Amino acid sequence: METTTIVKIHDLARAGTGVSRDTTPGFEGRVLFVPYTAPGDLVRVQIVKESKRYAEAILVEVLEPSPLRQTPRCPAFGRCGGCQWQHLPYDYQWQTKSQGVLQALKRVGVKAPDQIDLIPAVRIWEYRNRVQARGLQNEMGFYQAGSNQLVPVSRCDLARPEINRVWDDVRTEGQKFSEPYKVELELSPEGKVSRAWNSGHSAHGFRQVHDEQNDQLRTWVASQVPASSVLYDLFGGGGNLSLPLTGKMGEIHCVDLSVPLQKSPEIPEHFHFHRSSVVAWLLKGAGKRSGVAAAILDPPRVGLGTDFPVIAKAMEGLNVRSLVCVGCDADAWCRDVSRWVKRGWKFEKMMLIDLFPQTAHVESVGLLTR
Ligand SMILES: C[S@@+](CC[C@H](N)C(=O)[O-])C[C@H]1O[C@@H](n2cnc3c(N)ncnc32)[C@H](O)[C@@H]1O
Repeated sequence: METTTIVKIHDLARAGTGVSRDTTPGFEGRVLFVPYTAPGDLVRVQIVKESKRYAEAILVEVLEPSPLRQTPRCPAFGRCGGCQWQHLPYDYQWQTKSQGVLQALKRVGVKAPDQIDLIPAVRIWEYRNRVQARGLQNEMGFYQAGSNQLVPVSRCDLARPEINRVWDDVRTEGQKFSEPYKVELELSPEGKVSRAWNSGHSAHGFRQVHDEQNDQLRTWVASQVPASSVLYDLFGGGGNLSLPLTGKMGEIHCVDLSVPLQKSPEIPEHFHFHRSSVVAWLLKGAGKRSGVAAAILDPPRVGLGTDFPVIAKAMEGLNVRSLVCVGCDADAWCRDVSRWVKRGWKFEKMMLIDLFPQTAHVESVGLLTR
């Protein structure tokens, strides 16, 4: 039998796991991360990965539950890799996320601005307009965290009801594959659920998964960007964040690797899509105009990474004075904000919004000016 150890959970990490101190002889006091636990739990755990400074463990048994605990809604919670926090009340989830971003900012040496807007979610269940399910033969579900182990489910409590209504039909259709398959189910704004079999992530182009929270995000961004001669919406997808701004911009350039193939007729003439990598487009010197410019930067999880120097130089060369930086990974976003601040940009305001209730993810947005 594998060795187990009994520990008390004393904190919840922003990344989602409970935090404890190891009691294993010789390793007393080492930080221990235990998924699906709550501060106040007394638990039996088994260490599965370790280094000198910290170790990761799996939960074997809750011996004394924390008073914070609530009953998870989904029977697959704790096995399915989708949710980390169904066992915790929503207010506690939100407090952990928002405080966690502020701590991460502190760690990179950035002083938070005086104005911090917080937008927790109202719809905390059945919000996802898109899910990626996995299946094999007559079973469909999701993978366990960090593994290819299928956890079959008959519905997903985070998915919109329209998606759950077709779940059984899709599982039946999936039996046409002899190998493990992936299917992305997406609810269109018109209420139709599409299926994309074995395609890449976001088969129909990127779209935020929580429609109501996305509306709040768009409204906040639109209220922060001043009227300008040019707006650059970089990593702009289908123009989600810049389309609400068409009325107050001289022109808009939306740059993304996957812009829509066809511009719909209601999009005005001064709104331009460019299917390109952001860096390649900026290096071409495209879109330069006289007058004051603004930009929205909404890169993938990794943030601006090694593209930062090119993008920063281009923003300054294009006379961008207001920059809205959006990020879905707190560490990457904080790192980018600190790089802008080091270059002399002023961190004016920030906003944290919950696009992913029941999970540890949070969207961070900052307004920087020059
Ligand atoms: C977080 S999404 C943001 C999309 C959009 N702002 C929205 O709100 O729907 C990130 C986007 O970056 C795009 N992308 C990733 N790497 C890119 C690159 N090197 N150059 C241009 N676009 C990129 C993806 O296609 C995706 O649409």
